[in-house]
Amino acid sequence: MLSKLTLEQKIELLGGINNMYTRPMPAIDLPRFKMSDASVGVRTWGPTTAYASGASLAASWDTDLARKLGEGLGRDARARNVNFLLGPGVNIARSAEAGRNFEYLSEDPYLNATLVVPFIEGVQSQGVIATVKHYALNDQEFNRHNGSSDVDERTLREIYLPAFEAAVTKAHVDAVMNSYNLVNGVHATQNDILNLQILKGEWGFQGVLMSDWDATYDAVAACNNGLDLEMPSPKFMNAKNLVPAVQAGQVKESTIDEHVLRLLRAELRYGFTTRPQFDPADSTYSLADRPLALEEALESITLLKNQENLLPLNPAKIKSIAIIGPNVYPAVTGGGGSSQAAAFEPVSILTGIASLLGPDVHVFYSPGMPDTDDEKKAIEQADVVIVAVGFTAATEREGKDRTFTLPAGQDALVEQVVAANPRTIVLLTGGGGMDLSRWLDKVPALLHLYYPGQEGGTAVAQILFGQHDPEGKLPVSFDRTWDESPSAKWYHGDPADNTTLHTTGADGKPLDYTVEHIKYGDKLMVGYRYWTTTGKHPLFPFGFGLSYTTFKFSNLAAPADAASGSTVSVSFDVTNTGNVAGGEVAELYVSDPSAQTDRPERELKGFAKVRLAPGETQRVTLNLDARAFSYWDAKAHKWIIDPGKFVLRVGDSSENTPLHADINLR
Ligand code: BGC
Repeated sequence: MLSKLTLEQKIELLGGINNMYTRPMPAIDLPRFKMSDASVGVRTWGPTTAYASGASLAASWDTDLARKLGEGLGRDARARNVNFLLGPGVNIARSAEAGRNFEYLSEDPYLNATLVVPFIEGVQSQGVIATVKHYALNDQEFNRHNGSSDVDERTLREIYLPAFEAAVTKAHVDAVMNSYNLVNGVHATQNDILNLQILKGEWGFQGVLMSDWDATYDAVAACNNGLDLEMPSPKFMNAKNLVPAVQAGQVKESTIDEHVLRLLRAELRYGFTTRPQFDPADSTYSLADRPLALEEALESITLLKNQENLLPLNPAKIKSIAIIGPNVYPAVTGGGGSSQAAAFEPVSILTGIASLLGPDVHVFYSPGMPDTDDEKKAIEQADVVIVAVGFTAATEREGKDRTFTLPAGQDALVEQVVAANPRTIVLLTGGGGMDLSRWLDKVPALLHLYYPGQEGGTAVAQILFGQHDPEGKLPVSFDRTWDESPSAKWYHGDPADNTTLHTTGADGKPLDYTVEHIKYGDKLMVGYRYWTTTGKHPLFPFGFGLSYTTFKFSNLAAPADAASGSTVSVSFDVTNTGNVAGGEVAELYVSDPSAQTDRPERELKGFAKVRLAPGETQRVTLNLDARAFSYWDAKAHKWIIDPGKFVLRVGDSSENTPLHADINLR
């Protein structure tokens, strides 16, 4: 196919068309191929199944669910004739203010890397190319075209790259999307270290490296530094720029050939030219995926506070309920921006609760604090009050960061409601932590919903009324205030450090960018790594979540001694010691007290989701490979293990690890 193309035709294939397609090439009978966002719903081509947010998947800590979601999205893509799914997004939730955390997964590289592999395998098993994004360090939305994420090599390798690495080396993802930002002063789409040395070199990536939409800034630099496909259109990588560059010897024709071959090979590998991508067996409006969307919401919603076991509520004892707040109706299914999926029939919290309770219960609804005394009474006299506050697609979204405090007026609303009726349960929507300081000590129960997708209202109702045990665990640390979060002081660049980048714009004229340098001075101290290393405590720790039952961890077995580099098996029992069936996440953290260098006090290196009937015990075995004990040595440019003492800890959050054992690595 390649040999039939002229240089101009080959270059033509390096840019997208019509916003969401690769270019067709009649000379080789190549049609255009269709793309769609993204990881919470195949949303670009109309209404779809709107799954819960990426943060929700992370809060489920469930690799089987990740695979099923990938398969569901793959089916939804095939039903829409989509060849490339523009997800998953796996950037690290470094700061609660970052506008796209809800789309991504968690603050922890191991959790992200472990979930992204079955997710991608699920998508690609359906004959759809997954696109892991945004490579790399797109950890904030402010100034996303001109911000440079300046990071040291060890932090890059240990925190920000592992999910991408696993996507490539374990899941064999067939597309990667470069981010908007610069990394260490060079835009990602033309970053030799990221694209050529690491992605295509060291990790052996065989697929297509595409730009984010309008994230290309220089034709020659992008073409020579690994970018295969400029999306959504060839503003830079076009014949006008690249033919003279080839003639002048600035770009080798073999480099262009390689980009084209990557595209063609991926498309042929998937049979895109020989079979219809549209699969009539998959419904566009898939009832089959509704239970999956519900399952994700049920598995992720996280119970953060439950004073005197106010929850679960007994529906037989509820005669009246007040359902208050901006987020109870209409349904808040997801955050905003390119991931936002319009569901056919989303279930709001109001609808979900009212449907579960049925016609005999009196439901009072108000989006805010009512201003008549009669209505205020409705709240005072309700058997229970539900208040849903937090962020929405309008206030937490791509392209801009959000506040750490709740949107205007919401703190006051919670305070007024709880003052009127102390039996108030607060529900939060948002991609991560937020400031709860004004009212947390006054409310007896608190649930975090992240963004629960189209079935969120049903899931909330089932959890509130005890039909399902809350089993979500925080994928991020909840800081008390923005200032105490470890990245706060490193979040924005210092204007004194700004630099100017001289380049040429798409119109061929000189263009200067002022680059803001965001120094990742928090280094490895992201989230719980900071909290556990400093010995301070966040409001709610990473990995934490309450349940309606209780669990016990016991009988830890691990070798006292093992060879460095060998696989270490760690086993323990998890018992449901309470009265109802429930789900628990067993979390395994590794500490390296004898390391020759500073390491975070503990790091997550294994986990297992277990579901147990009352009284039931399950023995869990987790295997730790060499990477679980390693750190990145920036001098040697490789992962190394310092022999000596390591500590293994098992528990149900980063701060509660009742089991521990020492192991000596020879
Ligand atoms: C986003 C990408 C998305 C693309 C296409 C960009 O604005 O950053 O995540 O895939 O648009 O919609």
